[in-house]
Amino acid sequence: MEHVDTIILGAGAAGLFCAGFAAARGGSVLVVDHAKRPAEKVRISGGGRCNFTNLYAEAGNYLSGNPHFAKSALARYTQWDFIDLLARYGITWHEKNPEKALGQLFCDGKSTAIVEMLLSEARAAEIRLETTLDEIAHDGTRFRLNLSGRSTTCRHLVVATGGKSIPKMGATGLGYQIATQFGLPVTDTRPGLVPLTFAPHELDWIAPLAGTAVDARVSANGTCFDEALLFTHRGLSGPSILQISNYWREGDAITVDLLPRQNAFDALKSARADNGRRQMQTALATLFPTKLAQALAEKLALTGNLADQSDKALQAIAEQLHGLPLKPTGSEGYRTAEVTLGGVDTDALSSKTMAAKSVPGLYFIGEVVDVTGWLGGYNFQWAWASAAAAGRAI
Ligand code: FDA
Repeated sequence: MEHVDTIILGAGAAGLFCAGFAAARGGSVLVVDHAKRPAEKVRISGGGRCNFTNLYAEAGNYLSGNPHFAKSALARYTQWDFIDLLARYGITWHEKNPEKALGQLFCDGKSTAIVEMLLSEARAAEIRLETTLDEIAHDGTRFRLNLSGRSTTCRHLVVATGGKSIPKMGATGLGYQIATQFGLPVTDTRPGLVPLTFAPHELDWIAPLAGTAVDARVSANGTCFDEALLFTHRGLSGPSILQISNYWREGDAITVDLLPRQNAFDALKSARADNGRRQMQTALATLFPTKLAQALAEKLALTGNLADQSDKALQAIAEQLHGLPLKPTGSEGYRTAEVTLGGVDTDALSSKTMAAKSVPGLYFIGEVVDVTGWLGGYNFQWAWASAAAAGRAI
């Protein structure tokens, strides 16, 4: 029988980051993962450059059953703390598209620099990969785990097994099962930051536009995002769609403003004044990529030329361009989702330490918790902050 002070299940972003904090408290720490390599999502994230945090991260950028839950951890380990850590490792970074003020910070080099930094911070812990958890029991003071056939006990058990997104990369529902085993409620889970799919009648005009991107304002259920929208063979993607997917529910429509920075009515009226003989499709091509202009002219059944359109008709067209209602039939699911919405109910956890209120020594951190960030570095910031909260409390 092996004994360690702390076992951390999951050598991903949160698990590895927690290991350094927990080891600094003096006890022995074992990090266990079934994958061949640690922190694979960090490695592939941000197109290989890891969008590791966001300048503007605060609780309002997260979805959770309790919108206040993330505040404490985010305040006690901030984006500036992580930026300071990168500086100590000489990892340089840049803000993507600073003119858009989205606050998204990426490595100048490869994301593997962050993986190496996480491993270095966790160097006092043992990291055991390709190890499976076969069983857990708790006798009131200690947890007993069967790890690939080896019995190991610990006083503190940190669950950092992430969500269900991208099963091919090793995602499983283990964290939710452990929560359930110990009587903690788990809120409904669903794919988040995910492309949306459409019925054949919508795909008829969307699919031929695959690869076309435009700036758009996409809204659903009272929330809107002003970012790029990408047409795909299966539906819609791009940052604005991934963001709104967190707020969209099956059966809801989304509204797409295809000209968020222009007044379409004014633009069409002045195009009519300039040259009324222009076909509607040609007029739209001054506002949109040609293929999209053609598709919109067909979808909105626009015929004739600009001079044929009354002010009322132009106003009606403008309204459609600023508020195209579209009804997704679903999403691309966990296969491509960047995150899992829902998870271990925050009511069952301490917001200061991530400890389960009803089971001494049990902690949940990172994506397995019902806290999900927007696209743009917010999810890693939650992983770092929740990991620090638990690690400092152990
Ligand atoms: P994470 O998923 O990182 O780690 C969980 C670990 O647990 C994994 O190593 C897994 O193998 C292990 N595990 C799971 N089940 C197990 C089992 N049964 N037994 C043993 N081990 C088990 N976020 C962001 O802020 N900026 C970004 O740029 C991106 N980019 C991005 C790209 C892609 C393609 C994806 C899928 C996701 C992102 N994200 C992101 C989201 C981000 O990756 C995610 O929120 C964090 O990795 C969550 O950290 P965790 O440590 O909670 O889970």
